[in-house]
Amino acid sequence: MGKLFYGTMTGNTAAVAEAIQAALADLIDEVRCIDRAKADDLRACDLLILGGSTWGDGELTDDWADFMPQLDQIDFNGKTVALFGVGDQVSYTYNFVSAMKLLYDKVKERGARVIADKISVAGFEFAHSESVVDGAFVGLVIDEMNEAELTQARIESWAQTVRQEAAVAIA
Ligand SMILES: Cc1cc2nc3c(=O)[nH]c(=O)nc-3n(C[C@H](O)[C@H](O)[C@H](O)COP(=O)(O)O)c2cc1C
Repeated sequence: MGKLFYGTMTGNTAAVAEAIQAALADLIDEVRCIDRAKADDLRACDLLILGGSTWGDGELTDDWADFMPQLDQIDFNGKTVALFGVGDQVSYTYNFVSAMKLLYDKVKERGARVIADKISVAGFEFAHSESVVDGAFVGLVIDEMNEAELTQARIESWAQTVRQEAAVAIA
């Protein structure tokens, strides 16, 4: 089984993380805030879902920023990772969910196989996001501030992709 680790500043992402786990209960058996995790907790998993909100101007939450040096101590070769980001496309349209790309780059650099990383930008309206690569988001994107009513459908659609691509990655 895999685990989900998330970062948050004001708690929105905790609820999103719980909803993701519910949609992937066959693959993910634990949800934990990254401020309560150790490097060994991540080392123990072959499948990881990592995510959090974007703060500052395209920055990671403080809990993820504090954990980044520990990510440098983890060998992600052989691990499968899916990412998600929570942001606000209206108020932070120039850096919408940009922090997700910082996690993406880090786990790729450390050898991870990232799945469900070509997610359509259709339906969002924003000026710029670092988390768009080749025209697609590198993970699930959620906007609880402006489109909370779309969160569940977005999670379920992405969860299907995670399930399919995880099966291929692990096979
Ligand atoms: C000071 C501040 C800075 C923010 N910066 C960004 C940003 O750069 N990009 C973005 O997409 N959202 C940004 N947001 C929006 C948050 O990511 C959004 O409100 C999110 O739901 C917060 O989730 P959390 O409670 O889990 O931290 C910012 C919000 C605040 C209050």
